[in-house]
Amino acid sequence: MTSQALAYTDKSHLLTHNYGATEDYKVRSSGWDLYRVNPVSVVDWVVSRLSLEEPISLLDAGCGLGRFALAVAERAKKGATLKAVDLSPAMVDAVSAEARARQLSLEALTGSVQELPYPSGSFDVVLCNYVLYHVESIPKAVEELARVLRPGGRLICMVPSFRWLHELIDWQDRALLRLGWDLKSALFAPTGTDRFCEENAPGHLTGSLRVAERNRYDGTMRFPSVEVLHHHYLHTMRFKNAVAAGAEEGALAATVRQLMQETLISEGRLQVTSVSTCFTCIKD
Ligand SMILES: C[S@@+](CC[C@H](N)C(=O)[O-])C[C@H]1O[C@@H](n2cnc3c(N)ncnc32)[C@H](O)[C@@H]1O
Repeated sequence: MTSQALAYTDKSHLLTHNYGATEDYKVRSSGWDLYRVNPVSVVDWVVSRLSLEEPISLLDAGCGLGRFALAVAERAKKGATLKAVDLSPAMVDAVSAEARARQLSLEALTGSVQELPYPSGSFDVVLCNYVLYHVESIPKAVEELARVLRPGGRLICMVPSFRWLHELIDWQDRALLRLGWDLKSALFAPTGTDRFCEENAPGHLTGSLRVAERNRYDGTMRFPSVEVLHHHYLHTMRFKNAVAAGAEEGALAATVRQLMQETLISEGRLQVTSVSTCFTCIKD
């Protein structure tokens, strides 16, 4: 592992700066949904790939705020067994509270994808969406995801493209350069998708798993104003990690805003590209 990937895979960094509270991920994930160009949300698109006619057993591993697990719980047949797990206790509390409020049967636990707190062969379907670029050991996590699936069960894994959200990366990198940084600091470096992204995922999704299908989802966003886009940016891991690495928060925020304004003037729009691939894997 290179030092560049550290921030995105270091558990204590993740829990301190990125997922220890729910606010940042709430803003980001609602932005992906509110400003998408695609008429179909990623949640509806993924859930439509599941067969919910029978009461299934499903685990959402690395559930975050539970957008996938809660949508399945809304649509699943009576008798389904639905579980969710996440490294962050704050995420787990939020999912549990939401499930209770909506009277849905979904049990959420704190735990790691690298050591899942469930017996082998427990699930028909395991979701692991936008998570594996965060884990320390991808082989260990993949082995665990396969272990908890029954033979013939399916892993559904949404994986970002390598240059996911590249416009946001460019705005920040250019702002850091304007502010005199040389971008060599580990925490300014790419997102972690350099070690797990749609291009290299098939090489990781191996062992007792076989990739049966891959389908692309385009979740590209168009933001209605610099204000809205800038608010979204201030809640990104990229911004939080740059500040954690020593960038001056106010100066970085103001310079990125200026660059967004320049982009709006030159291109007439504020677009952020967000393409992912859904890998469907079958357990032998
Ligand atoms: C980008 S969010 C994705 C959340 C959810 N799957 C979704 O698509 O909305 C990544 C989530 O993975 C969790 N996470 C990171 N490393 C993890 C690990 N080793 N085990 C379990 N969850 C982890 C984080 O706490 C965070 O909630």
